[in-house]
Amino acid sequence: MDFTGRTAVITGAAGGIGRATALRFAAAGAALHLVDRDAAGLAATAEAVSQAGGFATTTTADVTGADDVRDYVQAAVSAHGHIDAFFNNAGIEGPVAPLAEYPIDGFDAVIAVNLRGVFLGLRHMLPVMLEQGSGAIVNTGSLASERGLPGTGAYNATKHAVLGLTRTAAAEVGGAGVRVNAVLPGMIDTRMLRNLAGTITGDLEEGLRFLAGVAPAARTGLADEVAAVVCFLCSDDASFVQGVGWPVDGGALATMSNGSIPEGA
Ligand SMILES: NC(=O)c1ccc[n+]([C@@H]2O[C@H](COP(=O)([O-])OP(=O)(O)OC[C@H]3O[C@@H](n4cnc5c(N)ncnc54)[C@H](O)[C@@H]3O)[C@@H](O)[C@H]2O)c1
Repeated sequence: MDFTGRTAVITGAAGGIGRATALRFAAAGAALHLVDRDAAGLAATAEAVSQAGGFATTTTADVTGADDVRDYVQAAVSAHGHIDAFFNNAGIEGPVAPLAEYPIDGFDAVIAVNLRGVFLGLRHMLPVMLEQGSGAIVNTGSLASERGLPGTGAYNATKHAVLGLTRTAAAEVGGAGVRVNAVLPGMIDTRMLRNLAGTITGDLEEGLRFLAGVAPAARTGLADEVAAVVCFLCSDDASFVQGVGWPVDGGALATMSNGSIPEGA
């Protein structure tokens, strides 16, 4: 894939899947505008991109704030002139608890980042791409976009909603040269998965083994394996791919049913 002369904006770029995607895009020649609320992690990603021979500008921003989102989009346009790809990826896992006991402030926090943050990204980026008449967006969903998983009610609701936003956006802008898709990662070995693994079992290694077993692949995935699909979905090779949720999960969605992860497993 060749992104020479193109620009990609990535939220949640301070670590995990966002950082891996930044490095993938940079290796393919894209210039980057990286966004995260974690300023130190963001600087580390920008440095890694630079070490790899790429070019990245950054905005430290909280994706839950409409002004922050407007500002990172404007900063990206000012720095690069045009935006070809947008990875709308920042997210949090939130509390793990059954709905009957779910902390209400935790619910609000997850909605704010995973749903409002993704909406605001679309709200401010779509006008830029519509004016250009081109662009590709990938929102980060999850296998939780397609299944009910006990203990993750807020996360699950937001990841279902990300698919709803993706399909609606595709319907609205698909005729105007802009593509909007979602990537649905399965169990990917990042900070987020390690935190969940430790929380649900009380033992990190046991939790990781359990979560790996959800997929026929019988392993957790690498952030770079998600990044590869994000880059594909943003590339011209995916020119007729519109409005889909593309799993990167080692076969988990093909085989698991609702509730396959027992609460407190
Ligand atoms: N790791 C997995 O197994 C997995 C599975 C499915 C979906 N996902 C999704 O992938 C995305 C990336 O997660 P990850 O696994 O790389 O985890 P991560 O925690 O390593 O990365 C998430 C990034 O988002 C940033 N972020 C969080 N809230 C923010 C805010 N309000 N404003 C700006 N930045 C914010 C964090 O600082 C962090 O850098 C998330 O949307 C997550 O829900 C991950």
